[in-house]
Amino acid sequence: MNILIINGCNLNFLGIREPEIYGDKTYKDLNKYIKSLAKDMSFKYKMVQSNYEGKIIDYLQKAYFKKYDGIIINPGAYTHYSIAIRDAILSINIPTIEVHLSNINKREDFRKLSVISDVCQMTFCGEHFESYKKAIQYLLGDK
Ligand code: DQA
Repeated sequence: MNILIINGCNLNFLGIREPEIYGDKTYKDLNKYIKSLAKDMSFKYKMVQSNYEGKIIDYLQKAYFKKYDGIIINPGAYTHYSIAIRDAILSINIPTIEVHLSNINKREDFRKLSVISDVCQMTFCGEHFESYKKAIQYLLGDK
């Protein structure tokens, strides 16, 4: 199983941005966490981050050509309004899992709408780094 993990805008600022919501762990810590999961759970992955909507679409389209088995995506704020990212997920036909560190259903009303949820196989949110672990377990069939 080869998984592409895509992180969107402001996720490179983990540990700095609103630690009361997103925790005090950094993006580097997230990298280390995923690396150790890959070792323990035996999967291959690549993790990328961009603050730009178009770059995220480029990553999704590259995943199609590179034939990734699954995608895990946390688009950051793009979750709530990027029809372009939604369209890209729909066009590539690769099982895609939506993740969020925070619980978007228990925050401001504008965060309750995800325009990608219904084109993803599953959403895990509100469990900080564990949301990513659950998404990986789901893709590995260990639901
Ligand atoms: C987020 C939730 C979004 O609403 C927010 O804009 C983010 C991070 C999360 O992981 O909790 O940037 O996707």
